[in-house]
Amino acid sequence: MLTSGRLLLTTFILALLSCILLCESKTVKEARQSVRKFPDRFQFGTATASYQVEGAWDADGKSPNIWDHMTHTDPCSIDDCRNGDIANDSYNQYKRDVEMMRELGLDFYRFSLSWSRILPTSFPDKINEAGVQYYNNLINEMLKYNIQPMVTLYHWDLPQKLQEMGGWTNPHIVDWFSDYARVAFELFGDRVKNWITFNEPREFCYQGYGTVTKAPKLNIQGVAEYMCAKNVLVAHAKAYHIYDKEFRPNIGGTIGITIGALWYEPETENDVQLAEEVGQFEWGQYAHPIFSKTGDFPPVMKERIAAKSAAQGFKRSRLPEFTPEEVEIVRGSADFFGLNHYTTNMVYKNESLNGYYDVPSYYDDMEAKLYQPNHWSAGASFWLKDVPWGFYNLLTKITEEYDNPPVFITENGFATRGGLDDDDRITYVRGYLNALLDAIEEGSNIPVYTVWSLMDNFEWMRGYTECYGLYEVDYESPQRTRTPRKSAFVYKEIVRSRALDPHYEPDTTIMTIDDGH
Ligand code: BGC
Repeated sequence: MLTSGRLLLTTFILALLSCILLCESKTVKEARQSVRKFPDRFQFGTATASYQVEGAWDADGKSPNIWDHMTHTDPCSIDDCRNGDIANDSYNQYKRDVEMMRELGLDFYRFSLSWSRILPTSFPDKINEAGVQYYNNLINEMLKYNIQPMVTLYHWDLPQKLQEMGGWTNPHIVDWFSDYARVAFELFGDRVKNWITFNEPREFCYQGYGTVTKAPKLNIQGVAEYMCAKNVLVAHAKAYHIYDKEFRPNIGGTIGITIGALWYEPETENDVQLAEEVGQFEWGQYAHPIFSKTGDFPPVMKERIAAKSAAQGFKRSRLPEFTPEEVEIVRGSADFFGLNHYTTNMVYKNESLNGYYDVPSYYDDMEAKLYQPNHWSAGASFWLKDVPWGFYNLLTKITEEYDNPPVFITENGFATRGGLDDDDRITYVRGYLNALLDAIEEGSNIPVYTVWSLMDNFEWMRGYTECYGLYEVDYESPQRTRTPRKSAFVYKEIVRSRALDPHYEPDTTIMTIDDGH
C-alpha cells in the first residue's frame, strides 16, 4: 500500500505528466501508425541556395557579394572561420547534383540565383554570359529528367557594391531589384515556371540590419530592419507585377515570396494575445501586407512602434509608412505563400522584461520573451527543436488568417553533426509531414513540400559545423563527394510511394536511379 506521502507524490507526478502531454498537444493529433497517402499531384522537392553551395566565388566574371566580402574581411565571424569560396563546388558539380535529384525521384528542385554572378556590375548594363551559362546548364540538365526548377531570385547574397550604397535600406534598391528580376525572367522564364522573389526577408532584415547574426552585420537596432522590410516588400511587389504583366501572358508560370515563420505558443492563457502579436511582428510583418484583405503592416506593429518612437523622442515612427499606392501594389502580390518552417517557440511576458532589451529595438517593440523548453528534442542547431504540432498549428493559422492561400512549403529540415545514420532527421521529417497531412485533411491548401536540404552546405554563421543534407558532403575531397544518408533513402521512398509509412526501413547499401524521370 502507498503511504499518503507517496500517494501525494505519485498524484503530483501524474498530474505533471498529463499537463506536459496536454499542454503540448492541445491541437495535435495522435502520431499515426498507419500508412498515409499524399493527395494526387502533391509535389516533392529539396532546396539549396547559391552562396551555400555554388562556390566559384570569383569565377568567370562573378563579382563579390556581401557574404564573400564578410567572410574575406572578417573570416572568424563564421564559427569555423571558413567560407563559401568553394562550398560544394556546385558550379562545377551540377551534373552530380541533378543525378542526386534523380536518385531521390524529385518532382522539383529549389535553388537560388546569384545576382552578382549574372550581373557583375549589379546592374543590367552587362550580363555575364558564363554565369548565365551555368544556370542554363543546371536548368536544362534538370528538365532533361523532368525535374522542374523552382527559382529564388534572392537568397541573401546581395552584390557588395549595392551594400556600399545602403543595400536594402536605400529605396532605390526597388528599381535595382526590379531590373535584376526582369533580366532573370527574360533569361530563364521560358523554362522556369515557379519563381520566388525573396527567401525569408525577416531573417536577413532583422539579423543582417538590426543585429550581427547575418551579413552585412549592420547592428542598427529598431530602425534599419524596418527600413529593409519596407523596401523588400515594395521590391517584391514590383517584381511580381513585372512578371504578371510582361511575362505571364506569354509564358504562364507562378510567382510568390518565401516567408520564414515559427509557431508561437503562449505559455499560459494570459499570453494568448501576446503570442498572436508576436506572430504579427515576426511573420505577419511580411505576410500581412501581401496576403491580408487590408494590406499594410499589421496594425499592432504600426501602433506599437509609432507610440514607442514618439515616447523615445523620434520625430516619426521608426517603422516607415507605405504610401496608399504602395499598400495597393503590395496587397495581393503573390500567387502562393512560400513557407519555410523549422520549429516552435514559447512566448510569455512579465515584469522581468522591463529594461530587459536595448531601447529602441525590435524585441523591445515586440514586448515578449521567447524560449524553448529543454525537454524538446534538438539536433545540431540550438534553435531548432522537433515540435511537429507547432507546424500543424501554424498551417491552420495561415489558412484561417489569409483565406486559405496555396501554401508551398519551401523549406523544412533538421541539422545533425554529420554521419550517415540520421534517424533524428527521419523522425523529424516524418513528424512534420504527418502534421502537414493533418492540416491538409482539415482543408489547408498545401500542394508542395521541400526538404532543406538536398545536401550539406555552408550554414551561414555556423560554417560547415551543422549538416542539413539528405546527402553528406565530404569537404576534404576535391569533388566534394556526396553520399546519401539514411534519410535520403527514406525520402526517396516517400516520393516514390506518395505515402508516409512510419515503419519503412530502407536498404541503404545501394542508391539507384529508377527513372520514371
Ligand atoms: C535558410 C537556409 C538555412 C536554413 C537552416 C533557412 O532559414 O533559408 O538558408 O540554411 O534556414 O538554418
